[in-house]
Amino acid sequence: MIIAIDGPAAAGKGTLARRLAEKFNFAYLDTGALYRAVALSLIKDGYEPLNEEAARHAARTLNLDLLNDPDLRLEATGSAASYVAAMPDVRRNLMEFQRKFSESPPENKAGAVLDGRDIGTVICPNADLKFYVTASAEERAKRRVAEMKSRGVEADYAEILEDVTARDARDMDRKDAPLTKAEDAHLLDTTDLAIDAVFLRAAAIIENCIKPQ
Ligand code: CDP
Repeated sequence: MIIAIDGPAAAGKGTLARRLAEKFNFAYLDTGALYRAVALSLIKDGYEPLNEEAARHAARTLNLDLLNDPDLRLEATGSAASYVAAMPDVRRNLMEFQRKFSESPPENKAGAVLDGRDIGTVICPNADLKFYVTASAEERAKRRVAEMKSRGVEADYAEILEDVTARDARDMDRKDAPLTKAEDAHLLDTTDLAIDAVFLRAAAIIENCIKPQ
């Protein structure tokens, strides 16, 4: 079973995906981390995020150790990721890894949960279930600030709001695999919904799909 979760920055996709994967014993892939790793590789080597040649090379020879680098979660890395994510060659280089993961999840798990921007539309258009998780930009910025503070990272609400809004615009306006809700995705607007409620709603939809009809 393949579950696709898409949505804008800081909408809570990661938390939802991780909890669903745990509940159903499915494998989980945070596809944003792959784009972040490409961006981080550029930053560490002193390249601009708009350097296509360096980005292409980093995506083709992706250093998976970067997935465990603490700088992966910096807002600056997320922002740089949205520049490299607009490059078709970068997306193409990361596509196979994501498709393989969804088709043959590690440890022979019976399913895979992938979260990102184009999972339901491009990577896994035939996913068994699709969710589009969103919330107002203000609410998302508030959550990102709380999450950063819980990790002991300084965060300024106004700056984060600006960053999240600019990143959404780049993700939605790019030509290749723009962020958009797949027609057959379940919309989960979490603006006024706590993560537990979102989780229960999504889990019920999955259970209903697994249950023999
Ligand atoms: O965690 P957050 O929602 O802030 O972002 P992320 O999921 O880690 O993704 C970082 C950036 O990678 C996004 O802003 C997108 O530009 C890009 N991305 C993408 O283009 N396609 C994906 N499937 C996942 C992420």
